[in-house]
Amino acid sequence: MDNLENILSELEIKIADVKNINEINSLKNEYLGKKGKIGSLSSIIKTLSVDEKKEFGKKLNDLKMKATVLITEKENKINEEILNNKLKNESIDITLPATKINIGVPNILERIIEEIEELLISMGYDVVDGPEIEEDKYNFELLNIPKGHPARDAQDTFYIKDEEILLRSQTSPVQARVMLENEGKNPIRMICPGKTYRRDDDDATHSHQFMQIEGLLVDKDISLSDLKGTIDEIVKKLFGKDCITRFRPSYYQFTEPSVEVDISCFKCKGEGCNICKNTGWITVAGAGIVHPNVLKNCGYDPKIWSGFAFGFGAERLAMLKYGINDIRTFYTTDLRELERFARKDSE
Ligand code: DAH
Repeated sequence: MDNLENILSELEIKIADVKNINEINSLKNEYLGKKGKIGSLSSIIKTLSVDEKKEFGKKLNDLKMKATVLITEKENKINEEILNNKLKNESIDITLPATKINIGVPNILERIIEEIEELLISMGYDVVDGPEIEEDKYNFELLNIPKGHPARDAQDTFYIKDEEILLRSQTSPVQARVMLENEGKNPIRMICPGKTYRRDDDDATHSHQFMQIEGLLVDKDISLSDLKGTIDEIVKKLFGKDCITRFRPSYYQFTEPSVEVDISCFKCKGEGCNICKNTGWITVAGAGIVHPNVLKNCGYDPKIWSGFAFGFGAERLAMLKYGINDIRTFYTTDLRELERFARKDSE
């Protein structure tokens, strides 16, 4: 009986030193477990007399209860400490500055295309699409560039199957497709922004894949001044109202006359700088009056219909407008470059 009292005081002393949940668990086992200091005492009961049983049983129960209370209280205290620590460490300090979330922005190449689309849609143009895998017929032949013609050399083409299927080297084939669809009956105003491909070695100003923005207008009595007015609107929208357009004679198989479109340098305003290579002018597009052969090939009677066409290089426009030196940066997945685009986008 005395031993029972000792067990309790011993437990009280030990429990005061307990520091963590593992220690309390082993203490629980040491005292209340089946073979523990208190747990094992139940087996003594059957060896006692009836009277002894009564007294011992009562005391043992009492001891068990007290020990359980002692252990449970300590266990609760430890758990509470754990929780408090957790709450303290994981609490949210709402006065801390928030983490900046980077929001995506359109690639600036897309921005340029959208700006041109927006303007031309307001002038009654449709935005159309064409296949990137194209037939030789549309990419060259209907555009007045027959097989074996030296003009083909200007566009080093990726052929896919024989000499017939290719990756389009320009967006001009979409002109032929749209004219054929309209069967020589309707006036046409369309632009086609899209990817084009050439076997160029990739360097700072060339990429094997690049974007062109093709434009075609077919109607009656269309002249070079209609083309100039339209191009002028586009470059003024992109580079500002002071921007002046200049046409230089050029040569394309599908236009006659053909021109090279220069704009006055938006940076130095014609004084001469590194962007315009000290000439005061920057070339931004090829254009011209649709060649009668092309109209004829695509079902339009050149005695009734006339038209103009133009082709901008989208990367070139974006590089000029946003001061980018390397065409390859448009196609990089380097976040640092793309973040630069985001800043330019909001300029
Ligand atoms: N397709 C020409 C090229 O890739 C660009 C071009 C020039 C398009 C004159 C036209 C045009 O529509 O009329 O070099």
